[in-house]
Amino acid sequence: MVFEHTPVLPEEVFLHQNLKPGDVAVDGTLGGCGHALRTIEAILPDGLLIGIDQDRDAIDNARDVLRPYKDNVLLVHDNFSNLSRILKANHIEAVNSILVDLGFSLHQIEKSKRGFSFNKEEPLDMRMDIRHTRTAADIIHSLKEKELADLFYHYGEERFSRRIARRIVAQRQNNPISTSKDLAAIVAAAVPTPRGKRHKIHPATQVFQALRIAVNRELDVLKAFMAQIPDVLEKDGRVSIISFHSLEDRIVKQSIRNYEQGCTCPKGLPQCICGFEPRMKAVFKKPVIAKEAELETNPMARSAKLRVAKRV
Ligand SMILES: C[S@@+](CC[C@H](N)C(=O)[O-])C[C@H]1O[C@@H](n2cnc3c(N)ncnc32)[C@H](O)[C@@H]1O
Repeated sequence: MVFEHTPVLPEEVFLHQNLKPGDVAVDGTLGGCGHALRTIEAILPDGLLIGIDQDRDAIDNARDVLRPYKDNVLLVHDNFSNLSRILKANHIEAVNSILVDLGFSLHQIEKSKRGFSFNKEEPLDMRMDIRHTRTAADIIHSLKEKELADLFYHYGEERFSRRIARRIVAQRQNNPISTSKDLAAIVAAAVPTPRGKRHKIHPATQVFQALRIAVNRELDVLKAFMAQIPDVLEKDGRVSIISFHSLEDRIVKQSIRNYEQGCTCPKGLPQCICGFEPRMKAVFKKPVIAKEAELETNPMARSAKLRVAKRV
């Protein structure tokens, strides 16, 4: 099986990565290698691409897709939150560019058979890394009603979180909820249809997002990743992050802001006592979003936001 993806914001990412021949670049989310192929072309003939993905399918696929460049590629099946450790293990002190394109891939939704889509009858799994043990079905069956409601509310920003949690708990007492379609039907039945209208998006969209975030600990790993960036970037090196929902974008924005600020002393002190200097600078203040032309051909880009910061 070989899959390639249309990368989101391809021109914008490429422009701001600022790559040159000989650079060492990290793609922390290889997916279908859409961005990776562009990155590698820019760093040839003697650059190195470190391609990371936590999904074994993506790594196996990248081995095929990137075969023509195999002397310039290092593939790592791991979580990008282990970036420092990965670089150390490969005797690399710092890199020129890091890209992460968060969330799930088209392959995971359409072909992985792991229940990422509410339109498919698949096991309710949602693990991107199948070495982990906790699946979406485990969460659905083990959390208390209030914990489920909180999860849907905080990670899915789901208005009807309490009703949905109540219905799930009533249902699971009699029948296990083991497939993506089972769960989608329960959520759809719990959510009221707007009078005289149809739902704009599938009513299970936010619950599926919340579960995926919880199964893959997406916000924790993003925070852990952001905490390592200044230590692994060369001076003037750039990190580019594409996020797809406000919870991720908030983490990215806040952490870049903290690095820009440097000093962490409480306001009102006559002088700085912490000694922290600014370590990163945002390349632009507002996130870059997709242009109309891209949205016409790639609906995945609809909610994508790109932020880029450079090491100072
Ligand atoms: C949106 S896709 C990336 C698409 C890719 N940029 C392309 O152009 O084809 C996201 C990929 O990142 C991987 N991924 C998500 N979170 C990850 C993490 N914390 N560590 C490593 N890989 C991750 C997923 O398994 C998936 O393959």
